[in-house]
Amino acid sequence: MMPPDWRPPTLTTARLTLRPFTDDDARPLFEHARNPNVTRFTLWDHHQTVGETLAFVRDYARLRYREGMAEPYAITVRPGTEPVGACGCFWAAEPHQTMELGYWVAEPFWGRGYAAEASAAVLRYAFKSYQPERMQARVIAGNFASVRVLEKLNFRYEGTLRASLLRRSRFEDVMMFSLLRAEWAVGELTRGA
Ligand SMILES: CC(C)(COP(=O)(O)OP(=O)(O)OC[C@H]1O[C@@H](n2cnc3c(N)ncnc32)[C@H](O)[C@@H]1OP(=O)(O)O)[C@@H](O)C(=O)NCCC(=O)NCCS
Repeated sequence: MMPPDWRPPTLTTARLTLRPFTDDDARPLFEHARNPNVTRFTLWDHHQTVGETLAFVRDYARLRYREGMAEPYAITVRPGTEPVGACGCFWAAEPHQTMELGYWVAEPFWGRGYAAEASAAVLRYAFKSYQPERMQARVIAGNFASVRVLEKLNFRYEGTLRASLLRRSRFEDVMMFSLLRAEWAVGELTRGA
């Protein structure tokens, strides 16, 4: 357990600032989290009330920060400061040094490369700070935009876990992707980081 006031450090990219969530983010984030198009391929359902968004930015975030996780980060587009999505990395299986990447971006901001840009920064922070051997990402079959994000990040498709997720009364196929530490390091060298 980390001290109660621990927060993941703010990360900056060319266009984005990624920062920990605060309670004040509930209202602006709700305007995006209430959109069913955003949750078409997510484990969570679109929010019905701002209270659900508050539970995310306050209770869920606090729990994860208490565990010392870089999850969830608020994605903000400079010079703005309001959240337009979330991304982060967390332990999927700590004894096996496997982490998982997750992300979502508000619909008006799709197709600008924000998910890939934000995820690249979070990946760099996570690989350096937590030293995972494996970073994985799971995508519900049909989410082509998310597959493309992972391709841009050099993740490798491993296979599909057929009918492995019961969601909204349907069994969904889940595509598994991974990026190993060595592969990430090669990518960093190529990028000259
Ligand atoms: C998936 C998601 C995060 C992508 O965010 P984004 O900021 O638009 O992503 P990027 O702009 O970095 O990249 C999207 C890529 O997918 C491509 N794309 C978008 N829609 C597509 C589609 N229907 N089929 C194929 N490719 C598609 C874009 O062209 C882009 O590729 P390019 O840069 O080569 O042109 C965003 O659509 C989202 O938040 N969706 C809802 C939540 C979600 O599904 N999260 C992921 C759960 S695994």
